[in-house]
Amino acid sequence: MGLKPATNPDVEAATIQLTIDGKTVTAKDGVSLYDVISMTGKIIPAMCYHYTFDPFGSCGMCLVMQEGKKAPVRSCTAKAAAGMVVRTEGEDLFLARKKAVEKHLSVHPLDCPVCDADGHCELQDMAFEHGVTNLANAKQKFIPEDTRSPVLDFNMNRCIACAECINVCKDVLMIDALQFMKKGGFNQVVPKGDVALSCEFCGDCLAVCPVGAITNKFSKYLYKPWQMKKTTTTCNYCGDGCQMYLETKDEEVVRVTSPLSWKNKWGDRSETAKGHGGICVRGRFGFEYLDGKTRLRQPLVRESNQLVEKPWLEAMHLVVDRFTDIKDKYGADAIAGLITARCTNEELYLFQKLMRIGFGSNHLDSSARYGHLNFVHASKHALGLGRTPNDWEDLTKATAILLIGSNITETNPLTAVRIKEAIRVYRAQVVTLDSAVTNMAKLASHPFVIKAGTEGLVIRGLVKAAIEQGLVDDEATKKHPQAFEALKAALAGLSLDEIASQTGLTTEALRDIAAIVAEAPRAIIMCAEGIVRRPNGYDNVLKLIDLAWITGKLGRPGCGVNTVTEEPNEQGAVDMGAAPEFLPGQARFDDAALRDRFAKAWDASLPAVGTGSHLVDILNGCKNGRIKALYVLGENPLATLPASMEVRAALERLELLVVQDPFLTETGRQAHVVLPACTYAEKDGTFTNFEGRVLRVRQAMDPIGESLPDWHIMTSMANAMGCQWEYQSVNDIQTEIMKVLPGYYNLGQPRKVVPAPDRYLGNGYAAEVTARYRTMPDSSDRARPFSLQMGQVLMHSGKMSTEAPGLIMIAPSTGKLRMNLHDMEQLGLQDGTRVRLTSDLGSLQLGVQPDQSVAPGTCFFPEHFNEPPVKDLMTVSVDAMTGVPSFKQTWVSIERA
Ligand code: SF4
Ligand code: SF4
Ligand code: SF4
Ligand code: FES
Repeated sequence: MGLKPATNPDVEAATIQLTIDGKTVTAKDGVSLYDVISMTGKIIPAMCYHYTFDPFGSCGMCLVMQEGKKAPVRSCTAKAAAGMVVRTEGEDLFLARKKAVEKHLSVHPLDCPVCDADGHCELQDMAFEHGVTNLANAKQKFIPEDTRSPVLDFNMNRCIACAECINVCKDVLMIDALQFMKKGGFNQVVPKGDVALSCEFCGDCLAVCPVGAITNKFSKYLYKPWQMKKTTTTCNYCGDGCQMYLETKDEEVVRVTSPLSWKNKWGDRSETAKGHGGICVRGRFGFEYLDGKTRLRQPLVRESNQLVEKPWLEAMHLVVDRFTDIKDKYGADAIAGLITARCTNEELYLFQKLMRIGFGSNHLDSSARYGHLNFVHASKHALGLGRTPNDWEDLTKATAILLIGSNITETNPLTAVRIKEAIRVYRAQVVTLDSAVTNMAKLASHPFVIKAGTEGLVIRGLVKAAIEQGLVDDEATKKHPQAFEALKAALAGLSLDEIASQTGLTTEALRDIAAIVAEAPRAIIMCAEGIVRRPNGYDNVLKLIDLAWITGKLGRPGCGVNTVTEEPNEQGAVDMGAAPEFLPGQARFDDAALRDRFAKAWDASLPAVGTGSHLVDILNGCKNGRIKALYVLGENPLATLPASMEVRAALERLELLVVQDPFLTETGRQAHVVLPACTYAEKDGTFTNFEGRVLRVRQAMDPIGESLPDWHIMTSMANAMGCQWEYQSVNDIQTEIMKVLPGYYNLGQPRKVVPAPDRYLGNGYAAEVTARYRTMPDSSDRARPFSLQMGQVLMHSGKMSTEAPGLIMIAPSTGKLRMNLHDMEQLGLQDGTRVRLTSDLGSLQLGVQPDQSVAPGTCFFPEHFNEPPVKDLMTVSVDAMTGVPSFKQTWVSIERA
C-alpha cells in the first residue's frame, strides 16, 4: 500500500505540507491521509481502519473531499501528498457517511440487547451519531454462529466485513489464521480452510472487531460493558510486561482486555515500534485461576499428618514460634527462604529484608536462579550491566537480529511481535539458531536448525568466523589489543569446519551469520532459555559478548546482547536483592561499603559475609540437616526439579516447612503450615520487565477468602519476630525502596544503560578468555540417540497456567512425547503409540505425537506437566560460577513399549 512509515529508520520520510480544513499541516510523505487528519486532533469516522496495520478501505466512513476530485475519497487508503487540499466536514460528507452506516445496518441483525458489544460497538456509535433511524428495510442473514473454535465464537450476522480481524492477524502478528470466504451468499470471516481455528489465540482479532461479530466464549452473556470495573495492570505471566485491563463485575474477573482496540485506532504507524498494545493468549484467556475454585482460602496447619484449616492468628503464632525456636536452638543459619519472581518488587524487597534482618539468614533465592542469573552475572561481569541493554523499540528498528536458543513466540510472544515488525516493516535480517523448528524460524531471513546442545559451539564458531574473515571492528579491538590477541590465541586451535560439522551448520553459514551481525549498523543479539537455562550458560553469554565486542556492537545505539525473562519479575527479583550474592540494586553482598549503607538504612546488622546459599545449596542444606526451616513463597521446587535433586527427601528432613501460595502446590502438600497468599490481581505493586521498565500492578479485586498479599504476611511475620516495620501499604515500601535505590522507579520508561567493558577487557580478560574457549565444548556425543528437551509452550507459563481452565482447555496436557514425524516413521510409531523413554536416570512409558516444530533427532515434553514425570529423567548440572541448575535437556533412547 505504501502507507507505512519509511521502512528504513535511518532515513526520515520527507516532510510535506497539505491543507486540511483550511489549515496548513505538516506531515510525513506517504503516510495515510487518515493518520495525518487524526494527528491534527480531528477524528473522523472510520470503521475498517486501525493504525497498526495496512488500510483496507471497505467501510466507506472515512470520506473526505479532496480538491480536484468530484466524489469523496476514502482518507484511509489515500496517501498524504504535498499540496493536497482536503475538507473533512460538511453536510455532503455527513450524508455520505450516513448512507454507509445505513448500508451496514441493512444487513445487521439488531440483536444489540444480547450482543456482547452492546455499548462498545462502533456501528452503534456511528448509527447514533448519524441519526440512522430508518431500519425498515433491514434484512436478516440467518448465518448460524460458528462455535467450532476454542475461545472465540464467530457470529457473521453481525460482521461488517471491515477485515480488521484478518488484517491484524496477517499484518501485525504474521500468523494469518483468518480469511474471507463466500458462504451462503455472504462474505464471511472464517478460520483459514474453514475449519476450527488453530492459531495462537491471542484474541487481537476480538480486540479490533468494531462490532460483536467475534465473541469471547469465556465472558459471553456475562456482562454489559458499563457494568464492569476496569483496572489497568501488568500481566503476571511473562517478562514482557504487557499492560492489560482486568475487567471485573461483582468481584468476579469477567474478561481481560488490552490497549489494542478498535476504539483507539488513531496514531502514527511508526509509534508501534514500542508495541501495538496487544496481549497474548496467556494474558487474555489465562485469568480464570484468579477467582477459581482451587484457590486457597484459609491457612492450613498440619495435624496428625493432615493439613487442616486454622484461623490466621493461630497459624501465624505457630509459624513465628517455630521459626523463633529453630533460630534459638540452631542459629539463624538454619533458616532459608525461596521466593517466586511472580511476586512484586516490593514483596521481593521485603522478602530479602525479612530473611536477612528478621531471621538473620542469607540463605535466600528466587526463581531467577533457574537461568536469568546466568545472564545477569555474565553481563555484569563483562559490561557492568545487570540487565538487558536494549528495549522493544531497539528490537523493532534493528537491522539484524541474531536469535539464539530462544523459542520466542512461545516464551515471550509480544517481544516476538516486535521482531516480526522488524522483519515486516523494517526488513531486518533475522537469524534463528535453535535445535527446534521455531515459529520465528519460519519468518526469519536466515533460519538454522542446529544439533541439540551445541549452542555454545555455534557461538565459538561465530567468534572464530568473524575473526577469520576480518569482520572485526578496529575501533573496538584496537582499544584493547592485548585482550584481542588473547581472544585470537584462545580460538587458534579451533577449526571452523569441525565446529560446523559438530553443530549441523556449514562453514559457509557460520561465516554468513558472523557477517550479518558484523555488517549491520544496528545488530541485536538475543539469547534465552537455550543458552541461559543450559549447561555453560554463563560462559556462553560471555562468548556472545565477545562476538558483540569484536564486531563493534557493544555500546552502539540499537546494539547489544540481550535476553528475555520467562517470569514477570525475574529482573525485579535480582534488582531487589532476592539472591544471596546481591543486596538491593545488585549491590554485592560482600562489599563492605555497600553492606554498611544497607545496615544503616535498615538500622540492623546483616548476616556475615560468606554465609549465603543459593537454591541448590539450600536444598542440599535441607537434605544434609544443616537447614532446619524453609520459608517458600510461591515457589514449587518439588514439582519443578528432577527427582535426582531429591527435593522430597530434603523437605522431609525439615523441622519446619512454611509455604505461602495462592494454591495448594505439591510443595505445599509437604508443608507444616500453608499460608494463603493473594494473586497479583488482589494487590498493588510493581514488576520490572525484561527491558528494565518498572510497571504498575494494581489491585482489581478483593482478596479471595482469607488470603492476604505476600507483603502483608511478611510484615506481620517480621514484626512478630521482633522487627519494627511500619508498612501500612505498598506505598510505604515503595518510599523506602526510593530511598535505598534512588531512580529505580522509572515507571514505564527503561533507564538507559550503557555497557562499560573497558575494565573487563583491560584487566584479567586474557587469562579468563583462554579458559573460556578451553572449556569442554557442549557435546552432542552421547550413548543415546535422541535429545530430550523440556520447555515452555505458548499457552502455558510455569505451573501457574495449569490452574487456568481456559488455557488448559486450549492446550491440555496430552501426556505425550512430541517427536519429529520422520523419526516416528523410522521407529514405526504412529500418533498415540506407547514408547519406553529411557535416560541414564531411568525410564518411563508414554504415548508419542508428531510435532512439526521438533527437529529430527530430538523430542520434546512441555515443562508445565508432570504426568508422566518426564522431568525425573533429566540430568542436572549446576553452573560453577552462578549456581544455576540446568535440567532441561538430556539424552534418551526411544523404543516401542
Ligand atoms: S486469536 Fe490471534 S492468532 Fe488467532 S485468529 Fe485471532 S488474531 Fe489471529
Ligand atoms: S469479524 Fe469483526 S473485525 Fe472481522 S471483518 Fe467482521 S466486523 Fe470486521
Ligand atoms: S506476552 Fe507475556 S506479559 Fe504479555 S500478555 Fe503474554 S504472557 Fe502476558
Ligand atoms: S476507514 Fe476508510 S474505508 Fe473504512
